[in-house]
Amino acid sequence: MYNTILSVHSYLAYAALGLLFIATINAIFGLTSKGLFKSKDRSISLFALIVCHMQLLAGLMLYFVSPLGLESFGQMKEAALRLTSLEHPLINIIALTLITIGWSKHKKEESNNGKFKKIAIFYTLGLLLILSRLPWANWLN
Ligand code: HEM
Ligand code: HEM
Repeated sequence: MYNTILSVHSYLAYAALGLLFIATINAIFGLTSKGLFKSKDRSISLFALIVCHMQLLAGLMLYFVSPLGLESFGQMKEAALRLTSLEHPLINIIALTLITIGWSKHKKEESNNGKFKKIAIFYTLGLLLILSRLPWANWLN
């Protein structure tokens, strides 16, 4: 169970980060070039949102089965354990909330510029937060 969820979380991370990066760049490009917000732009942003939500669900499950998750909570002097049991989950929940707020807010915008702007701002913030607290050493080993 633990190994399966860890594998899913580990591989989905590539898709989530990749799509989030593409959606962010796409929105910044649309914003600066004052382009039309087409169905392609909506699809890219939605696809990134969906994969990020799947990663959130996988992460939440992982937190309760991993020895580095809830089980290690409280061992705050160990930097590696503090990262996986507190910082990474907390920061990523905040990041995912921001990304979801951005998606939600873009729908309420009328203008092309407004839509690109909401995605650009909130997805960028989310991406930076995620990158700031990844357990890189565990992942790329
Ligand atoms: C396999 C897991 C998941 C999938 C495939 C998924 C997919 C989606 C999709 C497609 C939307 C956008 C709906 C739309 O605006 O058209 C959405 C919205 C949302 N999801 Fe998820 N989701 C998943 C897990 C989660 C989890 C675990 C949470 C919270 C703990 C969550 C919270 C939300 C919220 C709050 C919205 C509302 C955004 C809005 O106001 O438009 N999702 N999700
Ligand atoms: C988009 C958001 C996220 C990304 C990109 C991400 C990415 C990653 C990566 C790359 C790893 C290392 C995997 C490995 O060792 O192979 C990891 C580990 C972990 N993640 Fe996430 N994560 C995200 C969200 C979350 C959330 C929301 C939670 C919990 C609420 C969570 C809980 C964990 C835990 C507990 C581990 C350590 C698991 C272990 O090594 O036993 N993650 N995450």
